[in-house]
Amino acid sequence: MNRRTELLFLVSIIIAGLALTGCEQPEPEVEEPVEVEEEPEPEPVVEEEEEMEMELAEPSEQAAELIAAIEGYEQWEHHEGMDEPYESGHPGDVWVIPYANEVGHQAVADQQLPIPEGAIFVKEEYADADGEELTGVTVMEKLSEEMGDWYWLKTDPELQGVMEMEGMALEGPDVEGCVNCHGEASGQDYLMLPEFE
Ligand code: HEC
Repeated sequence: MNRRTELLFLVSIIIAGLALTGCEQPEPEVEEPVEVEEEPEPEPVVEEEEEMEMELAEPSEQAAELIAAIEGYEQWEHHEGMDEPYESGHPGDVWVIPYANEVGHQAVADQQLPIPEGAIFVKEEYADADGEELTGVTVMEKLSEEMGDWYWLKTDPELQGVMEMEGMALEGPDVEGCVNCHGEASGQDYLMLPEFE
């Protein structure tokens, strides 16, 4: 091979290489325009609020302590024969389950009056007789040996805060509604249940 044929050979190799790579270019795809059907805007769904918004107040220090003290109350004792929801003496459809801590349970068993300091009574309130819809938890804590010296509290089912009625937080030593109604049982240290002999 002389120089000229060498050169020609090289050039033809380069051309062949270029041609090969050039062929691999894919054809550009042509996108067909797709017709878009316009969907009508969905109507906004207005959900009816079935449950009333529950107003919760921030617990005071004393209420926060009491709420902490009743944690796990579901394990506490019931009054004799009261472990099922039973229809409350309250007006309206309320079913309740009462619980007592050890001091309270013992006081009730002994029918001890006044109820001793440290006794705590809890009452679950349900909106149904099957005890599925817990709506609130009421609490009474005996603050001293003195008759009627209770701390009253109503908290929500998750024990998060203090329930309110007409803007008033239901907690303290003299929540009027609680005291007035429980006053019926003032001879029994304001304890409604069970009736002492
Ligand atoms: C309209 C009357 C009424 C009012 C108001 C009332 N209670 Fe009661 N409470 C009762 C009755 C009746 C019982 C006995 C159980 C039952 O039938 O519900 C009771 C039981 C309880 C018990 C169980 C211990 C016990 O005394 O037998 C607790 C705890 C309690 N109430 C807390 C409260 C608190 C806290 C308030 C205020 C937020 C309150 N109650 C307001 C009528 C009332």
